[in-house]
Amino acid sequence: MVIGRRLFVDIMSNTVWFLTSNSGKLAEASVHFAELGMEVKCLEVPDGTIVEPQATDLEAVARAKIQQALDHLPHDNAMLLVEDAGLFVSALDGFPGVYSSYAYDTIGNQGVIRLLEHLQSEDPVRAKRLRAASFKAVSVLWKNGEVLIGRGECQGSIAPQIQGAEGFGFDPIFIPYDLDEDGQSLDPENLGSLSTHGRTFGEVGVEVKHRFSHRKRALDDLLNEWQNQRSHDGP
Ligand code: IMP
Repeated sequence: MVIGRRLFVDIMSNTVWFLTSNSGKLAEASVHFAELGMEVKCLEVPDGTIVEPQATDLEAVARAKIQQALDHLPHDNAMLLVEDAGLFVSALDGFPGVYSSYAYDTIGNQGVIRLLEHLQSEDPVRAKRLRAASFKAVSVLWKNGEVLIGRGECQGSIAPQIQGAEGFGFDPIFIPYDLDEDGQSLDPENLGSLSTHGRTFGEVGVEVKHRFSHRKRALDDLLNEWQNQRSHDGP
């Protein structure tokens, strides 16, 4: 993995243009790419340029955004990163999912809490299962007409109330499950080597969130994909 990352840095230019207006996403991607010695810059496009497509999966949304953003890259060799993410609540059959942006702008965190109001238990493990949710992200990197895709998921549960003001979006209502020493998500009854101890992403800083984050996992997956492709194509 480390060799793969070095290779990635060697052959790519140093800047990734990230199509996002979300400073929280930019901060998270910056932490990730900084580990690779790369800089992430925000690709600014005129208002109304990118139209969010009506699609049922995150990858289709991200791919559609890549196509729309290509004309706005600063030069032909530039790399473009697009990411689409959402919150998938098990008890709501995956809602809001691809509609997360709309749900956040309309019902917000308080609305999601209200939708799950009836799902309570004295038993903390059962409560976590009833309120299970996951963040999912798909990252798409475009470089010279090639498209690489990475997928990431972070499992957890919806908090009983809004907790904390760090991060963005649904962070103040999402408590990640603990991770084992390999960074794998554990079932809610297990204590892991990495835990937020019941705190939401809104209560921990970006560095802690990054270790659990669906965004980090999607980017890791994307870089692995790149490395696999290189090994397959040969030197
Ligand atoms: P987007 O379309 O990928 O920008 O995200 C859809 C919605 O999910 C937005 O309302 C975001 O605020 C929310 N969202 C995406 N990723 C995260 C996250 O890491 N934490 C909290 N909310 C998120």
